[in-house]
Amino acid sequence: MLIRKLNAEEQPPLHLLLLADPSLCLVEAYLKRGQCFVAEVENCIIGVYVLLQTRPETVELVNIAVDDSQQSKGIGKQLVYHAIQNARLLGAKTIEVGTGNSSVGQLALYQKCGFRITGIDRDFFIRHYSEEIVENGIKVVDMIRLTLDI
Ligand code: COA
Repeated sequence: MLIRKLNAEEQPPLHLLLLADPSLCLVEAYLKRGQCFVAEVENCIIGVYVLLQTRPETVELVNIAVDDSQQSKGIGKQLVYHAIQNARLLGAKTIEVGTGNSSVGQLALYQKCGFRITGIDRDFFIRHYSEEIVENGIKVVDMIRLTLDI
């Protein structure tokens, strides 16, 4: 598997990006502001993430996703480690990520990669999404913010 930056002339893998965030509007905004990286096997894109420069020395990992058929094989972890390495190359001192209060697997993944919970953006999903979202039988209302000093 190869993880590489998406070329300017390539179409971003929207079907994967929308797995991580159902809002096309937010996904398009992230793509405009950030750098998109893809994981590829035999010319087929199976994973993605976007890295955003948010504040001086701080980057945010957004829109990480692995194709349904390829999940639970360690690719998500490889993408997170790749993002951490890229953040260092960009000169960042901190990398941040946010996920829903219901995203049990994602919370596990980020903490296994060293991230610590640093805050809760209460009602984030109520403010930013018009439709109710339920995941793992839990209503998605709060954004859990996690941070790693690098
Ligand atoms: N409890 C404990 N650990 C869990 C877990 C759970 N419920 N769910 C996942 N994990 C762990 C795995 O065991 C693994 O750790 P390990 O290597 O120590 O066993 C780790 O989390 C990640 O597994 P990995 O196989 O690398 O993840 P993945 O390739 O399936 O990708 C996502 C993870 C989140 C990118 C993928 O599930 C996905 O694309 N989901 C949809 C999009 C999404 O939600 N994106 C994130 C938005 S915040």
